[in-house]
Amino acid sequence: MKRRSFMLVLAAGGAVIALPGCDAMPSTATAPWLAPGATETDPRLRALSWALLAPNPHNLQSWVADIREPGLIRLSVDLQRLLPATDPPHRQVLIGCGAFLELLCQAAAQQGQRAEVTLLPEGEYAAGGVDARPFATVRLSADASVQPDPLFAAVPLRRTNRAPYTAKVPDTQALLHLAAAAARPGITLRSSTDATKVQRLRELAIAGYRVEFGNAATWTESANFMRVGAAAVAAEPSGVAVTGTMAWFGRQLGMLSPEALRRTDGVAARTAIDSSTEAATHTHAWAWLSSADNSRRTQIEAGRAYMRTDLAAAQVGLAIHPNSQVLQEFEAMSTLYDRFHAEVGVAQPARVQMFVRLGYAARPEPAPRRPLGRLVRA
Ligand SMILES: Cc1cc2nc3c(=O)[nH]c(=O)nc-3n(C[C@H](O)[C@H](O)[C@H](O)COP(=O)(O)O)c2cc1C
Repeated sequence: MKRRSFMLVLAAGGAVIALPGCDAMPSTATAPWLAPGATETDPRLRALSWALLAPNPHNLQSWVADIREPGLIRLSVDLQRLLPATDPPHRQVLIGCGAFLELLCQAAAQQGQRAEVTLLPEGEYAAGGVDARPFATVRLSADASVQPDPLFAAVPLRRTNRAPYTAKVPDTQALLHLAAAAARPGITLRSSTDATKVQRLRELAIAGYRVEFGNAATWTESANFMRVGAAAVAAEPSGVAVTGTMAWFGRQLGMLSPEALRRTDGVAARTAIDSSTEAATHTHAWAWLSSADNSRRTQIEAGRAYMRTDLAAAQVGLAIHPNSQVLQEFEAMSTLYDRFHAEVGVAQPARVQMFVRLGYAARPEPAPRRPLGRLVRA
């Protein structure tokens, strides 16, 4: 929430006094980040405790882990946690599930467990959407020869960082490190720090915010997943957390009621466009993960590649922030989708799966996560 908007309201006669720490992030919501799995004895539960820290669209955490068969983890998409307006084919949700799978495998390796992964063991989902069949099964077995992944040490440091970035431009070495880390079958990471190219990509990203946040169906969907204030975040530690003193002010002034949030001409939608535009303006490097095709298997691989990119960024102190708007498949975005793909020179059947800002900024607090018990079926 922009300070200026609240100051204007206050100047117009609002008499509200906020105490420091009002609506601070509740510690229970970020507890899963502290010593994940330390109290678990089953290696599957230890690994799953780390996997749930994966990045995922709107922080919906759309994953379910069935561990009823000994030694096996059966992973499926939580069909109650989809974004039909913003992500009609459930591609982004599946990318989040791929990120979860990558972290699960890294956490297993860390404890000397070999993870044997079978993707889509009961068949591919239709192009139109995912279903109740698993996206992967993972069989764990103790194996002293398994090597830990050096990226794993960066998990506690990783964040999605939506802040404006400093003027420092990421160097070639850092970008090559990310490209090497991202390598997964059929997936390639490319990036640009060329000022002209960066500006053209910035303009496309900004146009994308205007379309997504100005569209009633997509904005309402996002607004419905906003948790405003500490109590709401503690009650449901998924979705987009709106916390801090400004959230407190907004609540007191009635500017963040569910109805106000859903308005495309309301303060929340306008603030989303303004703050995203400000962040894009302070961006000097963009990167994109492209894939040779758009199969469901490839989308899961893209998630694994994004997880690795995100960890590699944390390792070298780079902030990272997906900007998914121009990649989305709803009708109103189709012109920008085509313009963006032409700009980066990716043509069908290839496509871009992730588009991100890269740069430098102070690390934000971790995002909420649901506790392990909420995603495990035992
Ligand atoms: C497929 C995918 C798409 C995403 N798109 C966006 C986006 O467009 N804008 C954004 O701010 N964050 C985006 N994110 C980041 C998530 O919002 C973020 O991972 C989630 O809120 C959890 O926060 P964390 O990454 O800091 O743990 C995306 C993440 C994934 C995996």
